[in-house]
Amino acid sequence: MPLEARHLIDLETLPLARATALLDLAEQFLDARGQVATPAAFHAALADRQVALLFLEPSTRTRVSFEIATRRLGGYPVVVDGDSSSIQKGESVVDTCRNLEAMGVSAFVVRHQQDDIPHLLTQALQVPVINAGNGRGEHPTQGLLDTLTLRRRFGRIAGLRVSIIGDIAHSRVARSNAHLLSRLGAHVTLGGPPALLPENDDGRWPDVRHVTQRAEALEGADAVIVLRIQHERLEGLKLDVDAYIRDWRIDDVVLRNEMRPSAVVLHPGPVMRGVELAPDVADGPRSLILAQVAHGVAIRQAVLATLVGASGEHP
Ligand code: NCD
Repeated sequence: MPLEARHLIDLETLPLARATALLDLAEQFLDARGQVATPAAFHAALADRQVALLFLEPSTRTRVSFEIATRRLGGYPVVVDGDSSSIQKGESVVDTCRNLEAMGVSAFVVRHQQDDIPHLLTQALQVPVINAGNGRGEHPTQGLLDTLTLRRRFGRIAGLRVSIIGDIAHSRVARSNAHLLSRLGAHVTLGGPPALLPENDDGRWPDVRHVTQRAEALEGADAVIVLRIQHERLEGLKLDVDAYIRDWRIDDVVLRNEMRPSAVVLHPGPVMRGVELAPDVADGPRSLILAQVAHGVAIRQAVLATLVGASGEHP
């Protein structure tokens, strides 16, 4: 078994068989209405193991859903945040994790503003490392849960036209989704104002279309993943938010005039209501936002059961 199979770091290189196995297992954690439901056979899947949740950047959905997923599988989450841990005193993240590993922690879920932290941890630790967002790098469980949401809605990914719009340049969600969806055969379009749309990222981005007009991004799309402006990563870039709202926000009029009647809207959260999405669209019948959140628990259960579970399978 390759060493990397212990970890979940990115969707750029995750073997597609592993991605599909995780999506299929997550289906087992959802009932017919798409609500989280854990079959009895999985109630002790983590067999009392401790899972450290190290969140050194703000998070609500991702952190809480990993916490819930850990408990639903019979494990114990150990939450460490930047404000109250010794990282505040200058201890390195690697040292913190090695200490937690010495206490018997069985896996690490890590969110950090630095892109290289997950890789450093895989080198320093013996136990699985799950990337919950590394800087502008990747956010693999978000990409998996968005893919699951699309697969459940449309019954397939291959051939689907998916547009990801907004602050692409600073979004690890865009990156993880573009990788997995295009590798599974979707036609991915990235759309945003030029300042927020990266060049082809030194060739690391998959073969996706880049557009700078909203109408062009929305035309023909089956699904649109809308992103927040990542203000914390703009590094001095001055954005005209009024122009952004005018040119990129999705409201009812845009939904009616620029999108297919069957097209759906996704958003990883947190939603900046009124900026990238009008509230009536976020809460409307074509929004899958809360379905994404429910699917997030199922995906995280699938990841934990697979990587940390007592049976120790690594598909
Ligand atoms: C995303 C993130 O942190 O990358 N949020 C999330 O995990 N649902 C997106 C964002 O912060 O805009």
